[in-house]
Amino acid sequence: MLRKKITVIGAGNVGATTAQRLIEKALGDIVLVDIVQDMPQGKALDILESGPVYGYDSKITGTNGYEETKDSDIVVITSGIPRKPGMSRDDLLKTNAGIVKGVVENITKNSPHAILIVVSNPLDAMTYVAHKFSHFPKHRVMGMAGILDAARFSTFIAMELNVSVENIQAFVLGGHGDTMVPSTRYTTVAGVPLEELLSRERLDALVKRTRDGGAEIVQLLKTGSAFYAPSAAVVEMVEAILKDKKKIVPCAALCEGEYDINGLFVGVPVKLGAGGIEQIFEIRLNDEERTALKRSADAVKVLCEQIDKLL
Ligand code: NAI
Ligand code: 2OP
Repeated sequence: MLRKKITVIGAGNVGATTAQRLIEKALGDIVLVDIVQDMPQGKALDILESGPVYGYDSKITGTNGYEETKDSDIVVITSGIPRKPGMSRDDLLKTNAGIVKGVVENITKNSPHAILIVVSNPLDAMTYVAHKFSHFPKHRVMGMAGILDAARFSTFIAMELNVSVENIQAFVLGGHGDTMVPSTRYTTVAGVPLEELLSRERLDALVKRTRDGGAEIVQLLKTGSAFYAPSAAVVEMVEAILKDKKKIVPCAALCEGEYDINGLFVGVPVKLGAGGIEQIFEIRLNDEERTALKRSADAVKVLCEQIDKLL
């Protein structure tokens, strides 16, 4: 069987760590692209040279062009600028929209059948850009955020209750921004509803820490944003697609009526398999959750309207 080809655009913190995690899992051959001269080539060679120690045979190539990316099965887009302390994800809009548009135009020429996983921020709006300029069908364009946000929520719950992270099934909806909607009602610990285990005050504190989870890392790192947990989340998506796992995970998907959202990419539970997003699941929300999700989708809409004016 031919190895799958996975291209990662942007060889910075998220891109290079994603490439490393992908190759260590032997998910395919990797092409790492960046505009910085020699840097992706250097990182790719360094990762390749770990193969004899780790025992992987997959290839990884670094490049400043798109020739090597031809006929990729999956393209992960991490190119763009990250946040600095005090910046919101939305502050990145103008610069990253131009970068993502240019990247997507190159990808569509070289890999017309690829599945696109967008990581660049502001995430939901950048996924909208990728869809708009690739003209790919909606099931082949998605954004990574929900798995990361749910992983952060799980981490904080496990710390609070002093139990294994493996016991937590966290549930997060909405955009990857300050309005994201971690759901305490649909989150469980070993099958027990989280709301049975913690006071409203503690639940609210964990939800707030999850919403601010990206900013917490930015404050600590000072020169950039998170990349270990984000790259782990991307790899879960790539693996679900390449292994046709039919795995239900939260991803930014194009909603066309689901949850009363129309024409926007917003984080919702989806089934990921060989076809990409094979299904969006609509779960029943109460009034409070519906209002919070609408507020989150409205925030994404404002950014997409700005994009439509800009590009
Ligand atoms: P970084 O600055 O370490 O890496 C970005 C890389 O993109 C740089 O190496 C840069 O040279 C490259 N780049 C810029 N323009 C390019 C182009 N036209 N073609 C190819 N490469 C290009 O940043 P980092 O930490 O890797 O973050 C990348 C993006 O991902 C940021 O926008 C960040 O906000 C976002 N992010 C999103 C997350 C999510 O949950 N969706 C989580 C973490 C980061
Ligand atoms: C994060 O949540 C910066 O969006 C990125 O860490």
